[in-house]
Amino acid sequence: MARMFSPRTLVTVLRAGNAAARLRATRDGQAAVRLHVGAAGLGTGVLDAVRDGPATTADLARRLGVAREDLLEAFLRVLSVADLVREEDARWSLAPAGRAVVSDDLVRASYEAFAGFHTGVYRELDGLLAGAPGRRDVVEQGAVIARVSAAFEPFVDDVLREAVAEASPRRVLDAGCGAGLQLATMLAAAPGAEGVGIDLDEAAAALARRTLDDRGLGVRGRVLRADVRDLAVGTAGTFDLALLANVVYYVPAEERPALLAGIAALLAPGGTLLVVTTIATPHLFSRHFDLLLRAQEGDMSLPDVDSLSAALRAAGLLPREPRRIAPGAPLIALEATRLR
Ligand SMILES: C[S@@+](CC[C@H](N)C(=O)[O-])C[C@H]1O[C@@H](n2cnc3c(N)ncnc32)[C@H](O)[C@@H]1O
Repeated sequence: MARMFSPRTLVTVLRAGNAAARLRATRDGQAAVRLHVGAAGLGTGVLDAVRDGPATTADLARRLGVAREDLLEAFLRVLSVADLVREEDARWSLAPAGRAVVSDDLVRASYEAFAGFHTGVYRELDGLLAGAPGRRDVVEQGAVIARVSAAFEPFVDDVLREAVAEASPRRVLDAGCGAGLQLATMLAAAPGAEGVGIDLDEAAAALARRTLDDRGLGVRGRVLRADVRDLAVGTAGTFDLALLANVVYYVPAEERPALLAGIAALLAPGGTLLVVTTIATPHLFSRHFDLLLRAQEGDMSLPDVDSLSAALRAAGLLPREPRRIAPGAPLIALEATRLR
C-alpha cells in the first residue's frame, strides 16, 4: 500500500510533544501487548491446542469449546503477527517461537508470571497505596515463582559446588530449602556428607524429601518443617556449610541480624555460610522486585549488600567480597566464614 504521510508532518507530530517520551510510550505499549498476547495464548489454551497439529479455526473452536469463532480467528491473527503461530491453507500450526512458548517451561512460566502477579502489583498499586491488605503472591504463586527462579539454578549450583569443594563438609544445612534442589546438589557434591533441609512450608518440605529420595540421597538427608528463625529446633550438631538461598528477603529487615546470628551459631569453627540473594540496586528489576516484596502481606524487602555484610560481621562471621553470579540479574553470593 502506498504511504501518504510527508516527512514534514512526521516531524510536526514528533515536535508537538516530547518525541522521546512518545516513542518510548509506544515501544512500552507494544511490549506490553506482546507479553499479554503470549500470556493469553497460554491462558486460553489456544497455543496448546495449536500444538496438536495443523487445524482450522473451526477445529480449534470445537476443541476449546469457544462460542465466538470470529474472535478466536482475530486472536489467531494476532498470534500470527506476533510470530507465535502460522497459517497455511487455512490451517493453523505453531511457529518456532510459539513452539518454544509451549515446550520450554521457563518461557511459559515467564509469560504467566510477568503478565500475572509481576504486573498485577501496578494494576493494584492505587489500592495498596490507600492501605488495602498486602498481596499473597508468595503464598499463592509459589509454583510459578519456583518455575521462573529455575533460570538461576545453574548459576547457584556453580557457586555451591565451588563452596562444597572448598569446605569439604561433613554436614550441610539448607535453610529455606524449597524443593530441596540445592540440598541435593550439596549432598551429591559431598559424597560422605549428611544434610538437613528446613522449610516453613509443609508442601515445600515434602517436595524436598521427594527430591532427595528420587536422587537416592534420602538416607543422607533429613528435611524438617520449621522456621529458619528458630533453627535450634531439630538441628542438633554443627554444620560445615550452610546455605541461605533466596530466603533472606522474606524475613523482616530488623529480624535478619538475629537470623544470621542463629545460623552462625550452628556453624563449626571454620564453617561457611553462603547467602544467595537478589539485592537492592538502582536497577529496574531490583527496584521492581523490592516493590513487589513490600506489597506482600508480611514485612518483606530486598536487602542491600552493606547491611547484609554488617549483619554477618555482627554474627561473628568474616564475610568475603560479594559476587554477582548471574548475567544481567542483581543476584549475589556472599560467603562468610566462622573464625576458628
Ligand atoms: C524462593 S524459595 C527458595 C528455595 C531455595 N532455597 C532456592 O533457592 O531455590 C524460598 C523458600 O523459603 C521458604 N521460607 C520463607 N520464609 C521462611 C522461614 N521463615 N523459615 C523457613 N522457610 C522459609 C519458603 O517456604 C520457600 O520454600
